[in-house]
Amino acid sequence: MRYLEIAGKRPLCGELTIQGSKNAALPVLTACLLGDGPCVIENCPQIQDVEDTLAILGMLGCKTSRAGHTVSVDASEAEHFAIFGAEAQRIRSSVLFLGALLGRMGKAALPYPGGCAIGSRPIDLHLKALEELGVRFSDENAPEGCGAGIYASVFHLKGACIRLPQPSVGATENTILAAVLAEGETVIENAALEPETEELCRFLSLRGADIRRECGGRIRISGKRTLKPVRYRLTADRIVAGSYLLAGAACGGEIHFCNLPAGQLLALLEILSRMGVAVGEDGTMRAQGNLLAAGNVVTAPYPGFPTDLQSPLMAALCFAQGESRICETMFENRFRTAAELRKMGAEILTEGSCARIQGTKALHGADVRAPDLRGGAALVAAALAAAGRTRIQGYNYIARGYEDICRDFQSLGADIRLADCRDEKVW
Ligand code: UD1
Repeated sequence: MRYLEIAGKRPLCGELTIQGSKNAALPVLTACLLGDGPCVIENCPQIQDVEDTLAILGMLGCKTSRAGHTVSVDASEAEHFAIFGAEAQRIRSSVLFLGALLGRMGKAALPYPGGCAIGSRPIDLHLKALEELGVRFSDENAPEGCGAGIYASVFHLKGACIRLPQPSVGATENTILAAVLAEGETVIENAALEPETEELCRFLSLRGADIRRECGGRIRISGKRTLKPVRYRLTADRIVAGSYLLAGAACGGEIHFCNLPAGQLLALLEILSRMGVAVGEDGTMRAQGNLLAAGNVVTAPYPGFPTDLQSPLMAALCFAQGESRICETMFENRFRTAAELRKMGAEILTEGSCARIQGTKALHGADVRAPDLRGGAALVAAALAAAGRTRIQGYNYIARGYEDICRDFQSLGADIRLADCRDEKVW
């Protein structure tokens, strides 16, 4: 029921600290299930996807608590293996409990995962990789009363050599979560290189797992019998940082990022430099408000340009001089943001997986709806740079990944507020 109201066309100036990474927090929290004793996770963002993950851990019998950005998970008394419930259906990353539950309990029952409707999002690669570790999938394992879902069991997880046909982030993480407690050695070829996958490996290594990243996308894991509890601090969220950089580019201004994960954003920084936006080594972004077009941009697995920043980039390019082209290679429904941007006066033509964005001098405020999480952040960026008032419905999508987008942009001088439309006419 909540919506954002933004009065745009103000430069963004000030200092920002970026929240902890969502896509690292979710697998790291899931990996807390793989051993007894309390794991303490610091810098854990206060976002809906994290709260849903903690609720699932609670459902399994883990003790969880939160004090500000520090979360504690103790899986010593975890005893359940079924995670049917609204939370598991809501988030895509609930599928990671498959690998973790199989590692911990030898069985798992979960609904098909939810998440943003950005494409068909199959999980065939997850299932095939786990099958190679000895997992069987069958409805015969369904506990009474559970509906359609994934039912898996394994007598004994055994290491194997697995080649992923494509470097899926989720399939890589699921395989790692199952393999760390499997007997013998597992090799994952063509594994995802995303920093969040690296972060899961770092966390598990600290817990005592034997995981080595070899050349290219090969990960070698020697299974261990137990893992120990640890304290771990999550790094800054590169996608939140990237979307704020793009909002700053669209609005113009000067933003100092206290903890910019610049090394994880090289593809974006290269495009920003083409657009005439400078980001210094000290984490300060300076944009004059006269953006240049970006030429051709193609989304790709890390270290390529991230699909999660495609919509925020599209929003910024609406304000650039000249034509830019974006090719989306990962998720087929990620151009739905274009239709909302057009309501604000954007000139965007989409055809299949390609979009042509003709920069215009100015966009104007409008009533729009966030189509998904990153599309929502893109509309916020466009609204901040557009003339007039914009109202953005679908705040719940944005809250899945941004701790407090109003607080962050208000601290940079933006006119943005969260409102409740319960008492207003639906628009
Ligand atoms: C993760 C991220 C998401 C990001 C995406 C790509 C999390 C919680 N989410 O999602 O924010 O946009 O990586 O960087 O970390 N695929 C298959 N079969 C499978 C699995 C994937 O065909 O079994 C395809 C997908 O349809 C997609 C591509 O592989 O085209 C990449 O997907 P994947 O890397 O698995 O993304 P997610 O892990 O879902």
